[in-house]
Amino acid sequence: MNIVTTVIKSRHSVRKFKPDSVSDIVIKDVLECAALAPTAMNLQPWIFGVIKNKETLQKIAGFTEHGKFIAECAVCFAIFGEKKETYYLEDCCAATENLILALQAYGITSCWVAGAKKPYGESVRKCLDVPENFTLVSLIAAGNPAEVSIARKKESKKIVFYEKFIPE
Ligand SMILES: Cc1cc2nc3c(=O)[nH]c(=O)nc-3n(C[C@H](O)[C@H](O)[C@H](O)COP(=O)(O)O)c2cc1C
Repeated sequence: MNIVTTVIKSRHSVRKFKPDSVSDIVIKDVLECAALAPTAMNLQPWIFGVIKNKETLQKIAGFTEHGKFIAECAVCFAIFGEKKETYYLEDCCAATENLILALQAYGITSCWVAGAKKPYGESVRKCLDVPENFTLVSLIAAGNPAEVSIARKKESKKIVFYEKFIPE
């Protein structure tokens, strides 16, 4: 265990937030971490939206299927990928996880809300005036936690194999 693995292991999705805001210094730093994610051919085919305006948060929440809690978060990040790049989805997912873990390192909890492959991605894009060559990959609702919820994870022995796969 070290500080990074401890942060990674402490992360879990939180969907209820206290009304306190997240500082702009934290927001700037986590965005830098997001943008340091690896990308195919180092294309960095992304843009990152930061939404704190209550009315806009409510609108975005309303578009989603399972992200109504976005309306109550302190800040929502919207990650868009450049559609023409083959690996935009992988790249933007890597950035999403970097951002989530960087938030966690500050004690700011979050929940990834699906964006890719969702028809409402277009509504979110238009709502934020994002150009058509970008598509929504993820929404990350974040804030100080107002709940504790820990998801059960699969046992390591069921998902890891060494050298060659051995069926049970
Ligand atoms: C691609 C992706 C899409 C997700 N979409 C949603 C969503 O729309 N609404 C939601 O409440 N959680 C969403 N989640 C969060 C998962 O439900 C959550 O990560 C999972 O239940 C495991 O819990 P944990 O994050 O606490 O480990 C999404 C996660 C991923 C990776």
